[in-house]
Order: sequence, then structure tokens, then C-alpha cells
Amino acid sequence: MKNIHIKKVKNNNYPIDYQKKEVTILNIKFFLKEPILIPRIETEILLNTLIKVITNKNLEKIYPQLKLSNKFRRFFNLRTSILDVGCGCGFIGLVLKKYLKINKAYLLDNNPSALKLAKKNQKLNKISNCRYYLNNLLIKKLNIKEDFVIIANLPYIPFKDFKFRFLNKIEYEDKNAIYSGLNGDYLSIKLLQQISNLELKPKLIILELDPRNIKLIKNTAYYYLKDVFNFYKIILDHNNLERFLFIY
Ligand SMILES: C[S@@+](CC[C@H](N)C(=O)[O-])C[C@H]1O[C@@H](n2cnc3c(N)ncnc32)[C@H](O)[C@@H]1O
Repeated sequence: MKNIHIKKVKNNNYPIDYQKKEVTILNIKFFLKEPILIPRIETEILLNTLIKVITNKNLEKIYPQLKLSNKFRRFFNLRTSILDVGCGCGFIGLVLKKYLKINKAYLLDNNPSALKLAKKNQKLNKISNCRYYLNNLLIKKLNIKEDFVIIANLPYIPFKDFKFRFLNKIEYEDKNAIYSGLNGDYLSIKLLQQISNLELKPKLIILELDPRNIKLIKNTAYYYLKDVFNFYKIILDHNNLERFLFIY
């Protein structure tokens, strides 16, 4: 797992991955379909590191900043499932299901085309035991009865940045996969609120977030979940930016 994938665009900002209609990341081939989000390097490095920690292999030397403690290993085992909220092309759920010895992968999105693509990618890679939910976050009851971990890379860019979409070279991707309210925190906070109302809570929550509002979201998570979880830990990405929130 050495080749990190970096999204590249043509002169008119059109992503080369959309032109090729597929991309291989972490040795898994994903079909892509415009405008469903192209997986990003931050998420890839998070998954790569998680898998290495959980399967007890050495961490990649190239990104030593992303230090994940071995204690996260205990959250992933044959009895535990993962719930990928905002699965897009299936990137997170399918990578984790392929490389980890876990129970099921639940992949959830509110975009039916994203779910269709994720199913196609599951089939392409012959990954077993995946279930799909067309849902607005956790609004409809999911009925997961076993231990589970939530991992979510929901939209997190502030809508006030919409005017920079050309500069940021993201105008060909679905804006509902990128922006989340004026300050970028709307969906993550909504999800945390919904988690606080679940009868069976996840054992671990991992959120990919905007470094500009991660502290606010961490405080909000504590507000909603302080009776359930003890730890609210911010993890840096490969650029030393505060990118991931681990709650357990
Ligand atoms: C940033 S993309 C992440 C895609 C993929 N997980 C990845 O890491 O490459 C966010 C995804 O969340 C989905 N999404 C946006 N709002 C949602 C909502 N209210 N409920 C469920 N999914 C949502 C979008 O359709 C999109 O596929």
C-alpha cells in the first residue's frame, strides 16, 4: 500500500479520474461517476494507518504524523460492524471491510446514485457482507443490533467557501458531498445529536472534519455524549492539520 493517490485535474479543472471513470486506491479499484466525490488523500492515509494499526503491521514511514494508538485495535473484531455515514463511492466502508476481519459494513448515503456506485464497487472487488441504507444521516432507524463503529467523512466545507470552488478545483463534484451549512459543521453536529438518541451507541466514532471547526465540533460532541464516551481525541493529518476526531 505505498502509492498514495492524489486527485489531479485538467486545465479546465476537470478531474482526470472522472475522465478515466475509475481509480485504484489502497489496491482496490473503484468505478467513479461524476459528480460523486473522488476519494481524497486525507481519508486514504487515515484508512491506511488504521488498517496498519489494527492488523499490527508497521506504520508507513512516509506519514509518521498520523499517530494512532494501538488501543484502537480493540474496537475492530469479528463481532463488530462498521457504519460508513456518507459513503459516496463506498471508499471507507469497502476498504475497511476488505482489509479488516470485521462482521459487516453498513454503507449509508442520501444520494441513490452514490449507493448504486458503492454496490457496483462492492461487486467489482468481491467484498462480502455489506448492507446499504438510503437515509438522511440516521433519521430512519437502522436496526443495527451488534457492536459497531461509526466512521464518517460527511461534507464539511463551509458554504461561505462556495465562491472559491474554481480556485479549489472542486466545481465538478457534487456540492451536496462537499458543503455543510454556512460554517461546515451542520451535518456533523446533526449526526452527533442523532447518535446521542440511539438506543445502542457505537463503540467508537471517527469523524473527518474541517480543521477550522474541529474544536467546536469536539466540544459539541462532549456536550451531547459526555455520559457515554470518555475520550474526545483530535488526530492530525499528514499536513499536521487537525483533521480527525476520535470519540470512544
Ligand atoms: C465528502 S463525501 C465522502 C464520500 C466518501 N465517504 C469518501 O470518503 O470518499 C460525503 C458524502 O456524504 C453524502 N451526504 C451528504 N449529506 C448527507 C446526508 N444528509 N445523509 C447521508 N449522506 C449524506 C454525500 O452524498 C457524499 O456521498
